[in-house]
Amino acid sequence: MIKIVTVVGARPQIIKAAALSRAIRNSFSDQIREIIIHTGQHYDANMSQVFFEELGIPSPDINLSIGSDSHGKQTAGMLQGIEKSLLKEKPDFIVLYGDTNSTLAGAIAGSKLHIPVVHIEAGLRSFNKSMPEEINRIMCDHASTLLFVPTLSGIKNLEREGFAIGYTGPFTADQPGVFHCGDIMFDNLVYFSKIAGRMTGIMQTLKLSENKFVLCTIHRDNNTDSPERLQQIISAMCHIAENMNLDIVIPLHPRTAKIMESKLPQDLFKRLSGNKNIHLIPPVSYLEMIMLEKNSRLILTDSGGVQKEAYFFKKPLVVARPETEWVEIIENGAGIIADADEAKIIESVNYFLGKETLDFPNVFGDGHAAEFICNIILEQKTYST
Ligand code: UD1
Ligand code: UDP
Repeated sequence: MIKIVTVVGARPQIIKAAALSRAIRNSFSDQIREIIIHTGQHYDANMSQVFFEELGIPSPDINLSIGSDSHGKQTAGMLQGIEKSLLKEKPDFIVLYGDTNSTLAGAIAGSKLHIPVVHIEAGLRSFNKSMPEEINRIMCDHASTLLFVPTLSGIKNLEREGFAIGYTGPFTADQPGVFHCGDIMFDNLVYFSKIAGRMTGIMQTLKLSENKFVLCTIHRDNNTDSPERLQQIISAMCHIAENMNLDIVIPLHPRTAKIMESKLPQDLFKRLSGNKNIHLIPPVSYLEMIMLEKNSRLILTDSGGVQKEAYFFKKPLVVARPETEWVEIIENGAGIIADADEAKIIESVNYFLGKETLDFPNVFGDGHAAEFICNIILEQKTYST
């Protein structure tokens, strides 16, 4: 039996961790024991607890309750807490997801204690180091022993940074293993999209019709913390609701909700909140979110996970960022990078509304990334014992 410590903290990590926990429960429970540390980076019930309940993830064994703070203080608190837990648990591996401050703290704590770091969603790059996530993912990749990469572009990124692709082991932090395994979020979509319709009534609650609304999520710091960028995006949403005969559904990340209330010009806030076709709602559960994605006409987002989910549900995507790590979506013509540019967002929406068909070739794997990852971790254990 091997012991892994999984670190989660932010909403998308809890969702990603659900797939691995499910695979362990269903297929590897006699070989892998998982301890879950929740850093507490996200703590509102609708940003954390709801996902544990809905996705059947075991409750965290350890909750560090770090909460919100500046990057330095938040990451330092997590680092101390994770280190203490690792010293107590002495796991064979530490498993990390994505690119948040919780990921970075886990990578530093694990690698300094010589516990092999497993990075799931490795290799992604925006080539924009002003994003805190870009720093986190580069640091984590370079401290990892096993790197699980969702896409081929991610493999190329790692090759460019000097990783030996195709090296077959034994793996160490100096000679890591890089595996193209598909996207673990895709595992969840394959699994949950079959049952979501039975489990939630969000379409009825919001009185939405299929293909008659645009789903929007915005939370990136460069969008929320720049009044100009936020105004451009919000103005575009208002324009779509006012002129394109489409509702807009906006499940608001708490970061965005707080800033909108305090920083958005009064007239724009009224235009947004006073429009009956615009549904400004609190964050929704995962099953509610995938029902909204599945039934939307188009998705406008700056989220990483939501971009991929748009592709899975074959929905046109407008990316409210200057670039994306999920370049395959853009290359396949299913998404447009519109940045925080009102005119470009409107133009992109118009383009997709006029386009009958789009191509969505498979780029995110077969929905079994979690099993693949468990098998590689188990193989690696036989090398090191
Ligand atoms: C974090 C990640 C980002 C990821 C996002 C997923 C970093 C640097 N950023 O961004 O990569 O895409 O999570 O959602 O790790 N807040 C609440 N309640 C909560 C959580 C947050 O009110 O439960 C508010 C607080 O005001 C907080 C702000 O949101 O200051 C930002 O939270 P934080 O976790 O620092 O970053 P996110 O923007 O959520
Ligand atoms: N999500 C959710 N409820 C919401 C918004 C998003 O369940 O109100 C899910 C979404 O389906 C995806 C994940 O959260 O699986 C994406 O997280 P987020 O956008 O917060 O972070 P990112 O992926 O950008 O890091």
